[in-house]
Amino acid sequence: MSGWSHRHVLDLAAFSREDFAAVLELAHRFRSLPVTGARKLPALQGRLVASLFFEPSTRTRSSFELAAKRLSADVQSFSPSSSSLSKGESVLDTARTYVAMGADVLVVRHRSTGVPEQLASALDQAGDRTVVLNGGDGLHSHPSQGLLDLYTLARYFDPAHPLPEVLQGKRVAIVGDILHSRVARSNLWALTACGVDVVLCGPPSLVPAAFAQFVEEPPPGQALDPVPHRGRITVERTLEQALPGADAVMTLRLQKERMGQQLLTTLNRYHQDFGLTRDRLALCGADVPVLHPGPVNRGVEMASEVLDDSAICLVEEQVRNGVPIRMALLYLMAAADSSLVSINS
Ligand code: CP
Repeated sequence: MSGWSHRHVLDLAAFSREDFAAVLELAHRFRSLPVTGARKLPALQGRLVASLFFEPSTRTRSSFELAAKRLSADVQSFSPSSSSLSKGESVLDTARTYVAMGADVLVVRHRSTGVPEQLASALDQAGDRTVVLNGGDGLHSHPSQGLLDLYTLARYFDPAHPLPEVLQGKRVAIVGDILHSRVARSNLWALTACGVDVVLCGPPSLVPAAFAQFVEEPPPGQALDPVPHRGRITVERTLEQALPGADAVMTLRLQKERMGQQLLTTLNRYHQDFGLTRDRLALCGADVPVLHPGPVNRGVEMASEVLDDSAICLVEEQVRNGVPIRMALLYLMAAADSSLVSINS
């Protein structure tokens, strides 16, 4: 897999279109291989993946662990509540403990923005070979979710060739709590890199107008944007403005745990204004796929009639695709870490 240059994976702002293509192409190969049960791939044999989730997770944690096991890695899980964090050990010292046990990859989720980056820099400064994969940090970034959403959309539009080019010129509406969403931020970098025009929709308290400029400058600490031409971002305040012409709709969980103040009058009111129903989706002009990263607040972001309709709702497909996407990331990072190993089915 020549051309892969990311030692750590912290943020999709640093990904070129070729990087997205490399991950999607590899994930697609992994998805088509029969690697359940005893039929594992030997690619990461002898490697240790430590799953350091300082914040709760169902999908990301389980699918990273499953992905690592399917590549024959050893997996070390960590539970904050029963760890020495409760005795005052720091996050960095906790991570270093797993490095001392031989971890090759740390998958890190933390409620505070920047923690995976801080750990990566501390490891780099110490000359450690261990790499860091961001499993979601604060409001900042959730790269593996952005990649699995990209793959899910590409597969929907072209199941045989689910690569970035099939998304060029598409229009994706992202509805809801953009302000508190690391998933939205990762999707903005990923989708615009692949030539998708994104329409953000929500009230000003959840979708500040400045998000229209979100990808105009690379984030602090990154000198250049590796993508020469990105899709456009626009902001709309109503579904009636945002949905016509959309090729896909993504709705996001209201991040109640991240809202510092009461931003919404009631969840019912939110559902009335921004909840996806069949009638609302008809505004798109044709049947379009609906995505949600999960977990879903059923009846808030979308009605059960949408969530339970597998013909249009791709939520479970997103979960399924999370495993090959995370296999691809672990493979690329472990290969970048030392020698490239071959995929043997
Ligand atoms: N989408 C997502 O990150 O879900 P989890 O919090 O369950 O990992």
